[in-house]
Amino acid sequence: MYHIPENIVIAVDGPSSSGKSTFAKAIASELGITYIDSGAMYRAVTLFCLRNGLIIDGIIDIPSLIHRLNQIKIEFRFNDTLNRLETYLNGENVEDEIRNVAVSKFVSPVSKVEPVREKMVDLQRSMAKDRSVVMDGRDIGTVVFPEADIKLFLIANEEVRARRRYDELRQKGINISFQDVLNNISDRDYQDSNRSISPLAQAKDAIALDNSNMGVDGQMEWFRKLLDSKYGKKQKNESQD
Ligand code: CDP
Repeated sequence: MYHIPENIVIAVDGPSSSGKSTFAKAIASELGITYIDSGAMYRAVTLFCLRNGLIIDGIIDIPSLIHRLNQIKIEFRFNDTLNRLETYLNGENVEDEIRNVAVSKFVSPVSKVEPVREKMVDLQRSMAKDRSVVMDGRDIGTVVFPEADIKLFLIANEEVRARRRYDELRQKGINISFQDVLNNISDRDYQDSNRSISPLAQAKDAIALDNSNMGVDGQMEWFRKLLDSKYGKKQKNESQD
């Protein structure tokens, strides 16, 4: 439908629960390209830490984590039934477990560890080799793919973001208060934005979209206009392949 480049890379960054994954999934399905959730990788490392006693009294044992990094194998495998990539940690499907409250609590400090980031960024880049991707995260447009074809930066007010995450967790049957969700979101945003390595930041050439009052349909309408202005639509008499 559009003259999009081969092996296009679309970066979607933004704070917690700003709707990145919903938007990125919709973009992936519109363009028939692969959606990659970079946050899932940091979550999987955090789950490894929790399971292996690398977080003691709320403190991460950074030297041990670095020492054991080579024991952490993260992959994405396609689930045909659910039509999505799912996260595997050392061969085990952890797609659901990485979204739990304990992981959310420690993922930001784990993500600050430089060798962890180096390993994840390598993996993210390797996943975009020879294929078109839309990847969401915090540093995709700034660090992972500074040459990305399209960079989006999603924002929404904090209450709206907390409400979205709260509804999502409650729907999954997770019993958590709205205040706890709000605290986790604002704490992670603070840590993610203020770390020295690859902080959450809008790339200079990223387009910001405030979706506080926008649903997925509205966002996709906005995105199609962006695609149109960038890549134009095929003429009617061109083949439809
Ligand atoms: O879904 P949500 O926006 O709440 O978070 P996520 O995308 O699953 O990311 C979880 C955490 O991983 C973030 O709070 C960051 O600390 C970290 N992260 C990161 O440092 N860099 C990325 N590219 C993606 C996530």
